[in-house]
Amino acid sequence: MSLPPQSDVVIIGAGAAGLMCALTAGQRGRRVLVLDHGKRPGRKILLSGGGRCNYTNMYAEPANYLSSNKHYCKSALSRFTQWDFQAMVDKHGIAWHEKTLGQLFCDNTAKDIVDMLLAECDQAGVTICNRVEIGEIEALESGSYQIQTSEGAVTAESLVVATGGLSFPTMGSTDFGYRVAKQFGHNIVPSRPALVPFTLPQELMKRFADLPGISTEVIASCNNASFREALLFTHKGLSGPAILQVSSYWQKGNEITINWLPDIDVEEWLKSQRDARPKASLATLLTEHLPKRLATVFAEWIGEKGEACQWRRESMDKMISMLSDCRITPNGTEGYKKAEVTMGGVNTDQLSSKTMGSRLQDNLYFIGEVVDVTGHLGGFNFQWAWASGHCAGLFV
Ligand code: FDA
Repeated sequence: MSLPPQSDVVIIGAGAAGLMCALTAGQRGRRVLVLDHGKRPGRKILLSGGGRCNYTNMYAEPANYLSSNKHYCKSALSRFTQWDFQAMVDKHGIAWHEKTLGQLFCDNTAKDIVDMLLAECDQAGVTICNRVEIGEIEALESGSYQIQTSEGAVTAESLVVATGGLSFPTMGSTDFGYRVAKQFGHNIVPSRPALVPFTLPQELMKRFADLPGISTEVIASCNNASFREALLFTHKGLSGPAILQVSSYWQKGNEITINWLPDIDVEEWLKSQRDARPKASLATLLTEHLPKRLATVFAEWIGEKGEACQWRRESMDKMISMLSDCRITPNGTEGYKKAEVTMGGVNTDQLSSKTMGSRLQDNLYFIGEVVDVTGHLGGFNFQWAWASGHCAGLFV
């Protein structure tokens, strides 16, 4: 494969952010070359949302993002909104639906989104080359960049790093972006897996041994963040949207809190049940609100086997706290292998929130997940990729 030796813009990474940046810059008449070491563009898009791509969220706003500088994402998110992306989806006649909580998905497959981005890139004259290994990058005296690749050297006036984070290494994730950032003097906010299932200590796994596959709606909280969504028991611990969300706020050693009965006042309910059904056991009563197997495990965990009319005050207190304010300390997460995103990344303090450009090095840009901006679960990470990619595309 021969690469065009000279371009206006080289973008490394043909993922969500890189493709959006490429089509925006191409539409401005820039000669854009996108390089990626993977087999095909947009691999994480194809995999996302269970194959249907949760491509944005109707309620996307800065409060849905974590970053060392919570203001950084505001400008880009307001200049390229979820409705701007939706307009492109509609222009391409892609069928879509809202699943829940403003999450927008393709009706058919995530390939619709990749095909749309590739069609826009094609129309804008963008060249995309896959299976290209990237080597040394040099800033030339002229202000341009020379990039060594497995297909020869290429030069460009602007260099955009869109290589994503470390999650899902099977999808070609590398620390390349962090290395380039360091090369040009940027600080990196230490990274860790986020939107990731928790693993639990052995004694809890024993207690939950019969529960893998069971899902129930809860309010999960950690470090002042709370999410009401489904929790799923797994063979290694806990997952499901509520757990993935709180994992982004969790650090080793922290406990998480779970309200297993988010629809009711537990104390009121227990008292009313004790009066109305004095002969019933806790396990039986709990099946009104929890899956049967979970109800049984809970009653055993609380240690209350007697009839409701025999419940003592201490036992009631234990039930109330275990059911509405249950504290669990995970012993870890399933790591980058299972994490949807990476927290941390290129420190935003040395980047322009208007152009996504480096404040230390001319014509060098960082977009998407490689930057220290991490969205909640629900289409917010793609919205950041689209917004940051679009904004950089206007300046490169
Ligand atoms: P992205 O990771 O998409 O692209 C980076 C590109 O750079 C890749 O193509 C990679 O091959 C390339 N690259 C890396 N290192 C390189 C190197 N050294 N040389 C050359 N190329 C290199 N988000 C959301 O909003 N809704 C959803 O439904 C989902 N679902 C989802 C499911 C799963 C399983 C995962 C793992 C993630 C999600 N996400 C998500 C998160 C979302 O996929 C992610 O935030 C975006 O893809 C980030 O876009 P980027 O373009 O920044 O990186």
